[in-house]
Amino acid sequence: MTESRPAGRRLPVTVTVNGVARTADAEPRRTLSDFVRHDLGLTGTHVGCEHGVCGACTVLIDGDPVRSCLVLAVSAQGHDVTTVEGLGQPDTVTELGPVQRAFRDCHALQCGFCTPGFLTTITAGIAENPTPTRDEAVDMIAGNLCRCTGYQNIVEAVLTAARYAAGDDTPGGPAGHGAAGVEH
Ligand code: FES
Ligand code: FES
Repeated sequence: MTESRPAGRRLPVTVTVNGVARTADAEPRRTLSDFVRHDLGLTGTHVGCEHGVCGACTVLIDGDPVRSCLVLAVSAQGHDVTTVEGLGQPDTVTELGPVQRAFRDCHALQCGFCTPGFLTTITAGIAENPTPTRDEAVDMIAGNLCRCTGYQNIVEAVLTAARYAAGDDTPGGPAGHGAAGVEH
């Protein structure tokens, strides 16, 4: 017979999530991924492997990409956390941020499970390197796994997102389909 484990002590954790201060009680062992999903209700962050391999759970802490399945919620206390829900641009017509628009325009997702992690990773990547080469775009997403797309259109989305973020709205497109900037 299995014994039920007593609930651990819970501590109030306050983080600024997508620009809004949020507080919830969490056990000290609560991961940041579970905290944002289950305690804050932000289910856009996906959890795949739960041990730092797939990148699906990537969020930004103070602008840096981290695997939220490997971070304890209590260690994010007082920091700025950006989840995929915070990547939109509500003041625009589409309300999509540049990386989101690029994914749409380049058909860079299929099932979408991996997509939140790619969007956050690429947001940080082009903030650090606003004009990536194709090789640098490949490197930028090397730590994220996608079981569906074969990555080519995600690489195209990185290059397109960098252009969009710089104010160049020349549309991207799926790799190998004659889109702007695609080599044949
Ligand atoms: S769920 Fe965190 S890296 Fe896979
Ligand atoms: S789109 Fe399905 S795992 Fe990436």
